[in-house]
Amino acid sequence: MEELSAIILAAGAGTRMKSEKPKVLHEVCGKTLVEWVCDAAYGAGVKNCITVVGHKAQMVMDYLGSRVQFALQEQQLGTGHAVMQAKHLLQDKKGHVIVLGGDAPLVKAETIKKALESHIADNNAATVLTAELSDSTGYGRIVRGKAGRIVQIVEQKDATIEQLDIKEVNSGIYCFNISHLLEALSKLSNQNAQGEYYLTDTLEILIKGNHNVGAMKIENAYEILGVNDRKQLWQVQQILNQNIIEKHMYNGVTVIDPNNTYIDGNVEIMSDTVIHPGCMIQKATKIGANCIIGPNSQIEGCTIEDYVEIKNSVMVDSYVSAHTKVGPFAYLRPGSHIGENVKIGDFVEVKNAKIGNNTKISHLSYVGDAQVGENVNMGCGSIVVNYDGKKKQKTIIGDNAFVGCNVNLVSPVIVHENAFIAAGSTITQEVPKDSLAIARERQTIKKDWVRKRSGQDDTV
Ligand code: UD1
Ligand code: CA
Repeated sequence: MEELSAIILAAGAGTRMKSEKPKVLHEVCGKTLVEWVCDAAYGAGVKNCITVVGHKAQMVMDYLGSRVQFALQEQQLGTGHAVMQAKHLLQDKKGHVIVLGGDAPLVKAETIKKALESHIADNNAATVLTAELSDSTGYGRIVRGKAGRIVQIVEQKDATIEQLDIKEVNSGIYCFNISHLLEALSKLSNQNAQGEYYLTDTLEILIKGNHNVGAMKIENAYEILGVNDRKQLWQVQQILNQNIIEKHMYNGVTVIDPNNTYIDGNVEIMSDTVIHPGCMIQKATKIGANCIIGPNSQIEGCTIEDYVEIKNSVMVDSYVSAHTKVGPFAYLRPGSHIGENVKIGDFVEVKNAKIGNNTKISHLSYVGDAQVGENVNMGCGSIVVNYDGKKKQKTIIGDNAFVGCNVNLVSPVIVHENAFIAAGSTITQEVPKDSLAIARERQTIKKDWVRKRSGQDDTV
């Protein structure tokens, strides 16, 4: 069957990262390097993605799971050798295969698509994507003949002094006709400066065998940038982040300071929302229209409806409904579901709790494992005492209840609708509806006690 395949090379050790983790599992903008490459391949219409793993193979395989097929390269004997390890997964396939580096996450799906179209239109056995770089150090150089056609790719370590001056380099991204690739791989040798089987040599082999081989120059040279060390990880992250932010800007989102805003690749934001400086918006967060986000907020895996305002807050795996205000300095922990037109004010922490519409929790509260109704007022310093030292327990507060300042609600407890709890109470029993609950020591006055203590007043 003719379907488009891809091979992602991800077996290398990535020594210069100085990391316990395999290089391709390092993250930029919410995705690992190899996932960016994978997504670009699938985005270009690839049906079958093979990842060649080697160094810490199990970690990469556990991470990617069933999203791709794997080929194991036990010893890293070069990029050509890596592709050979996928032979058994390719040989019954017809059509074309795209080869990509698992450490070069900036390549766009459209670029791969374009390369493939030109590959097919020119009836090529192989097409390599190239880029013009002002500094070509470290890359394979594209050697073109008199007619301008590619003749070979020379690795830096094998290049002559003249070849080192060539600015057009190999991106490490190729389209191959599968049967021609397999034939060329069988002829590879490792007679070169690094003693490796170079995938790049398959092009010269195909050219010598009178097959068409093309070299297509990429417009945006940055797309070929690979990650070998932490500095390059940062450079790639900057480019990806700027691309993501520009996409949101063109969709109608205002980002006040793109250099100080970090948005993951899967985030969705609707128009007329304004993002203030210092925000990190992560995972698959969805933000509605006309929101004001930030400054200095970290929002991870949340869904936020329209007209929400969030200031200086941290929010994880939570849902915030329209017209609600969060912060400054609030903390929404996983499982918080906040209704419409709610106020979650300063130094308020909410965890695994449902907060009804129009409820106010304005200052210094903890609400965990609770269900709070609509139009409830949780006074300053009110606390849900959800943990008894062994188990987490649940508290339920009915609609229109008033919870006074500095109240402890010792879970499990139910406060029914319209109940009123006096400030400073420690509530351990159910409060019926429409009732006042006072659970605190009565005030005692000892007249002139202070003066008596200091012996200032001997008339009493
Ligand atoms: C390779 C190209 C070079 C190109 C550059 C682009 C060759 C011989 N050279 O060089 O022309 O300009 O990429 O970035 O192909 N890998 C394996 N198994 C191996 C060796 C490598 O899976 O045995 C993987 C690495 O993990 C990496 C990718 O292949 O993801 C590229 O390997 P690397 O060693 O970085 O190749 P370069 O020397 O950069
Ligand atoms: Ca490399």
